[in-house]
Amino acid sequence: MRPMTLLAFCRVFGVAVFPILATAGEPSACQFLSLLQLEVRRHVGLEQIPCVIHQTWKTHTLDSNQEDFVKSWTSKNPECQHKLWNDTEIAELCKSKSPDLMWPIWEALTPDVFRYLVLWDQGGYYADLDVTCSQPISTYESIIPKDVNFLVGYEAGHQLTESERGDVGFTRVEQLEQWFLASAPGNPVLLRSLEILKEKFLWKIRETVELTGPATFSDAVHEFLAEAVADGVQMEVSDRVNASEERRFLSFPSERAYSVGSWKLYLLASGRVSTIGYGAESDPAQSLVEHEFSGTWKL
Ligand SMILES: *[C@@H]1O[C@H](CO)[C@@H](O)[C@H](O)[C@H]1NC(C)=O
Ligand SMILES: *[C@@H]1O[C@H](CO)[C@@H](O)[C@H](O)[C@H]1NC(C)=O
Repeated sequence: MRPMTLLAFCRVFGVAVFPILATAGEPSACQFLSLLQLEVRRHVGLEQIPCVIHQTWKTHTLDSNQEDFVKSWTSKNPECQHKLWNDTEIAELCKSKSPDLMWPIWEALTPDVFRYLVLWDQGGYYADLDVTCSQPISTYESIIPKDVNFLVGYEAGHQLTESERGDVGFTRVEQLEQWFLASAPGNPVLLRSLEILKEKFLWKIRETVELTGPATFSDAVHEFLAEAVADGVQMEVSDRVNASEERRFLSFPSERAYSVGSWKLYLLASGRVSTIGYGAESDPAQSLVEHEFSGTWKL
């Protein structure tokens, strides 16, 4: 039963149907039922990915811009739970779920580690606070196979040349964004991101983009892709031996799924996650999210 139906039902029949609560009056019966709304939410979107949207900010107090960004998620996805995590809550999550791996170094990290941790632990959708929702999650099935359990997007629509990479400050020529991700719980690539991050921490890497950001995440995803596509190395050799100029295509084409064991990763084109200026002509016109680039991950 949909939440609205249940509540409408309650308003009409509240006291009569719930005599136990009648002494407290009809409004209390309805309050009780509105609490139950959480339990009767309908699952929408990709089958194995919990319909929970995780976002984080220092506190639960948002400015009006941020509230508008959040509203794009809650209004388009009324079936999904929305969780805004503050700094205390993300630290508690880290302490309880990653006591040996992340907690010992947590104090020295930026909060963007949270995204890997929460999706690995609980699954769901993660969006930076400056990312808005353009398409309801319930419509994802029309473009993404519904058994996909890991959703990742390219930051650019083609491979950057090494000099372009330097100019735009990317850390990888084929970088994967991490302002919007989705996963079923227990994803080994997310755990691997945390492991790589800790190794880099000990190598004294301090730059956020390299340590906790897209570089580490791209590395972990590329390990998965290398396993999914057996002739990747051979293709690279033949391309480097024979290519007359620097290659411009992506090693792992977007808008398709890659599988290893029970994990099925779908690589979204950069246009789907709206990387303004880095897309390709061939990118799909319809974006799932828009990135407002307020740099919330830095804070
Ligand atoms: C986060 O929220 C919890 C529960 O509401 C509160 O106890 C805690 O003080 C908050 N932390 C911050 C940093 O705002
Ligand atoms: C380079 O191209 C030639 C001609 O197409 C081909 O025979 C050769 O196998 C290629 N080299 C590699 C390493 O793929």
